[in-house]
Amino acid sequence: MRVRNQYRKSTPLCCNAGSRRSGSVVVWSLVGFLLMLHLYSLVSHNDEVAGEIRLHMRHHPLVRELEQVEEENIQIPPPRGRRSPRAAKRRPKRTTTLIDEFLDENSQLRHVFFPGMKTAIDPMKDARNDTFYYYPGRIWLDTEGNPIQAHGGGILHDERSGTYYWYGEYKDGPTYHAHKKGAARVDIIGVGCYSSNDLWTWKNEGLVLPAEETNETHDLHKSNVLERPKVIYNEKTGKYVMWMHIDDTNYTKASVGIAISDYPTGPFDYLHSTRPHGFEGRDMTIFKDDDGVAYLIYSSEDNSELHIGPLTEDYLDVTPIMRRILVGQHREAPALFKYRGTYYMITSGCTGWAPNEALAHAAESIMGPWETLGNPCIGGNKMFRLTTFFAQSTYVIPLPGFPGSFIFMADRWNPADLRDSRYIWLPMIVGGPADRPLEFNFGFPLWSRVSIYWHKKWRLPSRWRALQ
Ligand code: DGJ
Repeated sequence: MRVRNQYRKSTPLCCNAGSRRSGSVVVWSLVGFLLMLHLYSLVSHNDEVAGEIRLHMRHHPLVRELEQVEEENIQIPPPRGRRSPRAAKRRPKRTTTLIDEFLDENSQLRHVFFPGMKTAIDPMKDARNDTFYYYPGRIWLDTEGNPIQAHGGGILHDERSGTYYWYGEYKDGPTYHAHKKGAARVDIIGVGCYSSNDLWTWKNEGLVLPAEETNETHDLHKSNVLERPKVIYNEKTGKYVMWMHIDDTNYTKASVGIAISDYPTGPFDYLHSTRPHGFEGRDMTIFKDDDGVAYLIYSSEDNSELHIGPLTEDYLDVTPIMRRILVGQHREAPALFKYRGTYYMITSGCTGWAPNEALAHAAESIMGPWETLGNPCIGGNKMFRLTTFFAQSTYVIPLPGFPGSFIFMADRWNPADLRDSRYIWLPMIVGGPADRPLEFNFGFPLWSRVSIYWHKKWRLPSRWRALQ
């Protein structure tokens, strides 16, 4: 009796042993071919990465000194009797760590994190000595000798004038808590703007978007929150467009605001605020791609994920297209940049004004999927690396003429006196294989490494300055 295999479908390929064999030959050849194709793509990509390193070395011997790993050896002082309530709350019983010292307003190490006026960077004085040195964490003076007020900021390179504009939160007011449990805050004063040709000497261009003093219902009323302003230029409309995080004292409004100007130095007209795509929007940035399409990236859903979507052609609104990225990863302070067709982003964790570990992410398409590469910080010491050098990302400046080289801009917040928060600008290099292999790629790294190098003191290559 012939037993029919009820599960086997009768097909021309399986009706006899000979054709069965040829069937499996075809299948295995196909598998082999696909494997070869995959291997080829890996090898060629790794070649690309290696080529990138070679290119990096060949074309940028000038930036090599910026890649020197600089260690920090800070001795933690023995514990004293009284500590600030903030530090005590964080770790009541354990021994002191560097982060406790950082958060302790009365720490003996205060001058290490927040050096005083005596050591301020004063380009007007120092320029005569031809220094051009950045000293991350020191007070940085503008051309009039006042500390620069451009926190949570970003840079616009105005192609038309060749000038750099630095926009940020002007926070030169008292820090207070609106409620017992509320975050430390400064009333909105406005968006500050500074101009420069060398990214080191900054002229104060004034408040380009001032606070609203009287109308309490206005988004910019001083009792609200204005954070992380960013400006891009729209070639089609000839307008400078500013996007910013707009909130109420308790951070429940969670919106983005839009303002517009004919000039980079303002004044900017405030248009309105909106919840992008109908979702909460807190820490945010905007990114203008090579093809002129601009994108809004913002922390949403209680900061548990980021959202990204293109803006309309006039940059005044979002379009209905939106993707959720880094879902469940609780990231904020996004700073996005692009290098050789790949998109990169640095983000921070969500710990209020306290510093935490930065992560670098990469994507082939700006709309995702985004992969997490790992902590980009190099040098200092372990605590420096675990706290983004005691700072939080805000923007990345590409260095034209030095492909793969960037300036990483971050804020070292001083929650006890927010106006005294400092700027951490450090060299950032994209090159070499990433150190965290990706699961779906058989352990082969697909992305280049993003490295932010700690330096107590550093400067841009003189050739870069000569190009300006
Ligand atoms: C972290 C954000 O990155 C800052 O911009 C600010 O909103 C603080 N939180 C407030 O605690």
